[in-house]
Amino acid sequence: MIEWLTLNLDRICGKSSRRLPILPLAIPRQSTAWGLECRAFSFGDSDMTDQRKGSDAEPTTHFGFKNVPESQKAEKVAEVFHSVAAKYDLMNDLLSGGMHRLWKRFAIELSGVRSGNRVLDIAGGTGDLTRKFSNLVGPTGQVVLADINESMLKVGRDRLLDLGVAGNVEFVQADAEKLPFPDNHFDCVTIAFGLRNVTHKEDALRSMLRVLKPGGRLLVLEFSKPTNALMSKAYDAYSFAFMPLMGKLITNDSESYRYLAESIRMHPNQETLKSMMVEAGFDRVTYHNMTAGIVALHRGIKP
Ligand SMILES: C[S@@+](CC[C@H](N)C(=O)[O-])C[C@H]1O[C@@H](n2cnc3c(N)ncnc32)[C@H](O)[C@@H]1O
Repeated sequence: MIEWLTLNLDRICGKSSRRLPILPLAIPRQSTAWGLECRAFSFGDSDMTDQRKGSDAEPTTHFGFKNVPESQKAEKVAEVFHSVAAKYDLMNDLLSGGMHRLWKRFAIELSGVRSGNRVLDIAGGTGDLTRKFSNLVGPTGQVVLADINESMLKVGRDRLLDLGVAGNVEFVQADAEKLPFPDNHFDCVTIAFGLRNVTHKEDALRSMLRVLKPGGRLLVLEFSKPTNALMSKAYDAYSFAFMPLMGKLITNDSESYRYLAESIRMHPNQETLKSMMVEAGFDRVTYHNMTAGIVALHRGIKP
């Protein structure tokens, strides 16, 4: 089976920081070159363990509130982000009332990223975090924006170019579950509003642990569970009525925004995600609720 990924290792490991086009390269799924995590399906690793056991049928997973065969989820998620890519930034500001900027700023504060660091921004999309990290790491550092979706990567790359972000940023098309980077490579790894879209979250967390240097930090910024009942009710009404309506009006696509609302509800809550990070091997895992738990920032350290 062939896995299509972009591999940019020469540049990532080398000294050059020239901006590159996003180039696809075929990698055999089972390849172990560079310690890639392109390994075969592994029972018992994922949150869908119960659905995989005791049946010869293909295991299923959730896509929003729907159950779909695992092999179809990534494709369905890809359709959503191909559809929303062009208006992604506008919709982000409209739907969060600009709050996503504050949530991201807090993630940057807690990242501890300094000049000369190597940072991986997984599911980096249109590059909000990458842009800030590019400033922080300076000319001697490096930021890799990785995303599975070509449309999001293209929008992100063009946007950062327009903003004059250049010289220390690379763009790589990659799946969070099978990161195509060497072991012990990054000082900090972030994934903002991306983990809930990943089919095998445990595989992704282990992959992030592998590419971090010992002492390196993982930051997971993600929608979570509101901490009070009133907020929860208001948030439900907002998500299931307002978000698809705005999606319809602005992008002519209510379904993608319905998926967004549903996928948030299906994502592990604060404590569950914390346990998953501990289980994956992270140390000193903590989280901070923001906006009454609508969003949480989890942080863990590689031992
Ligand atoms: C909601 S956007 C977040 C973009 C950006 N991090 C931000 O906070 O604005 C989610 C991103 O996750 C990406 N994504 C989904 N599944 C992924 C996977 N398995 N590996 C890497 N990226 C993925 C999507 O393509 C999309 O760009």
